[in-house]
Amino acid sequence: MTQTVPVALPGRAYDVLIGPGLLAQAGDLIAKQFGAAKVGPKVGIVTDSNVAKVHLPALEASLRGHVTIAGTAILPAGEATKCFRELAALSERLLEMKLERGDLVIALGGGVIGDLAGFAAAILRRGIRFVQMPTSLLAQVDSSVGGKTGINTPQGKNLIGAFHQPSLVLADTGLLSTLPLREMRAGYAEVVKYGLLGDATFFRWLEGNAAPMMTHDPAALAHAVRRAVEMKAEIVVRDETETGDRMLLNLGHTFGHALEAFTGYGPRLLHGEGVAIGTCLAFRLSEALGHCPPQTAARVAAHIKAIGLPTRVADISGELPDASTMVRLMGQDKKVTGGRLTLILARSIGEAFVTRDVTAEQVEQFLAAELAGG
Ligand SMILES: NC(=O)c1ccc[n+]([C@@H]2O[C@H](COP(=O)([O-])OP(=O)(O)OC[C@H]3O[C@@H](n4cnc5c(N)ncnc54)[C@H](O)[C@@H]3O)[C@@H](O)[C@H]2O)c1
Ligand SMILES: [Zn+2]
Repeated sequence: MTQTVPVALPGRAYDVLIGPGLLAQAGDLIAKQFGAAKVGPKVGIVTDSNVAKVHLPALEASLRGHVTIAGTAILPAGEATKCFRELAALSERLLEMKLERGDLVIALGGGVIGDLAGFAAAILRRGIRFVQMPTSLLAQVDSSVGGKTGINTPQGKNLIGAFHQPSLVLADTGLLSTLPLREMRAGYAEVVKYGLLGDATFFRWLEGNAAPMMTHDPAALAHAVRRAVEMKAEIVVRDETETGDRMLLNLGHTFGHALEAFTGYGPRLLHGEGVAIGTCLAFRLSEALGHCPPQTAARVAAHIKAIGLPTRVADISGELPDASTMVRLMGQDKKVTGGRLTLILARSIGEAFVTRDVTAEQVEQFLAAELAGG
């Protein structure tokens, strides 16, 4: 049942393998691609405390006999781990494991572990290879593919990092069975993003098949992850360093990041939940500006709501930002060039576009009406 999606970057091409049961095959697959024990590379495993409990023993068992495990670093779970302090500690741990240029780092975890371990691999001995083994839905459909790695600083999220492509991605969809439902839903916001930005057929498929997918039907899950990864791979190959098309992947994110910043990047609002609200806002703004036909935004919101995700700013509990605060926070997003907001809007479901033509005043007016319940 394994499906392979190639990421055809010249000189840095790699495969994303998707399907259930890949963790058990990891040792075999890694030895085949990189060389077996003794002649092959040593591996250093990086994971977090939650994932270690449920999946680390199986990974170690799978690797044993195939490759030499140089050591395992188990980091605290959570976004706070993506910081300079943990990066320094991890880099030293990997050096103590005596990982050399030809060796491998394996990132077993969600986007936090993938981003941090990937960045550590990028700077260790000026760059060693790494394998992504994403364990959250978000990481399987988004963060494990495309080579963006990095950490957060008090100045903002992901402002320090490097482009460092993995050498292999093993997305074992069976591992998602232990993922908490709220995290599963948050990851779904990134899945539906692909349909909305570029594939109306996929969105229609999701409208019909999201329910079995969310209850871990293996075929539905594998199809959704594969289609998402195919789209991400295509976009990354066209625009690796995000000067054009890759920006489309930020659909819902400029609004979403502002909401995350306001709520403090904590459990009040997960990234995917912010993206879900942001995506609905992007469609409602597109409709308000006359870019897409009436009822489009309502269809998008109905689907996102059916998954159990928030669709309005007012769905966030506690104190809410006002329109001008939102616009100010949107202005601090990384995707600002020359002081102008870059927005991803839509002409229809499956057709998003990048624009710098909407003024901050227009966005603020729209948000004021939104927040007033209009
Ligand atoms: N590099 C990129 O292109 C890119 C893209 C999108 C997001 N990101 C980054 O990804 C991060 C978010 O990733 P995330 O949502 O995976 O967060 P995460 O890594 O914190 O994982 C979410 C939670 O689920 C737990 N978990 C993960 N897999 C599990 C499993 N199989 N069973 C049980 N528990 C499991 C984790 O321990 C954690 O508590 C953010 O830092 C974001 O900036 C990066
Ligand atoms: Zn995202």
